[in-house]
Amino acid sequence: MPKENDQNNRREVAPDVPRNKSPIIRMATVLSMVVIASIFVLYKTDRRSIKAYINIPELNAVEMRGREAFNNVCAGCHGVNGTGDTDIGPPLMHPYYRTILLSDEAIIKAIRQGTPEDKWKYGHMPAQVDVSNEQALEIVAFYNALRRVNSLGK
Ligand code: HEC
Repeated sequence: MPKENDQNNRREVAPDVPRNKSPIIRMATVLSMVVIASIFVLYKTDRRSIKAYINIPELNAVEMRGREAFNNVCAGCHGVNGTGDTDIGPPLMHPYYRTILLSDEAIIKAIRQGTPEDKWKYGHMPAQVDVSNEQALEIVAFYNALRRVNSLGK
C-alpha cells in the first residue's frame, strides 16, 4: 500500500510548474539562449593580436609602390602586409574578410575618411591624410594582389 502512494505522489506536478512546459522544452529554451548568446559573443569577440599568415605574390611596379606605402602608413596598425598582430588595428588579410568582400571603393573610403569601430574591437581608424590619391590606388592594387593569392576575394 505505501508503495503505491509513493508512486502516485511522484506523479504529482508541483503547483508552481506550468503544466504545458515539459522539462525538455525548458531545457531546449535555455540551451538555445546559451547558443544565441555565444554566437553574439563570438561575433563581437576580441580578436586582438591575431596574426594572419599569407602568401606574398610577385608584384608589379604599381603593386610594389602600394606595398611600400602600405607598410609605411598602414602597417603600424594593420601589421606588415596586413597580417595584423598589433594592438591598434585588425589584420586585413584575415579569413574574416572573406565574408565581407571589401570593394576598391570601400578601401579608398577607409583611407580617406577612416572607419568607426565596427567589426573589431580596436577602436576606430582615423582618416589617413598623408596618403595621396595615387598612393591610395597603389595601396588598393597591392591589397588586391594579396587578396588574389590568398583566396580572400578579388
Ligand atoms: C591608427 C591605426 C590605423 C591605421 C594607421 C590604419 N588603419 Fe585601417 N583600420 C584600423 C582599425 C582599428 C580598423 C577596424 C575598424 C572596425 O572595427 O571595423 C581598420 C579597418 C580598415 C579597413 C576595413 C574597413 C571596413 O569597411 O571594414 C580597411 C580596408 C583599412 N583599415 C585599410 C587601411 C589602409 C589601407 C591603411 C593605410 C593607408 C590603414 N587602414 C591605416 C586602424 C588603422
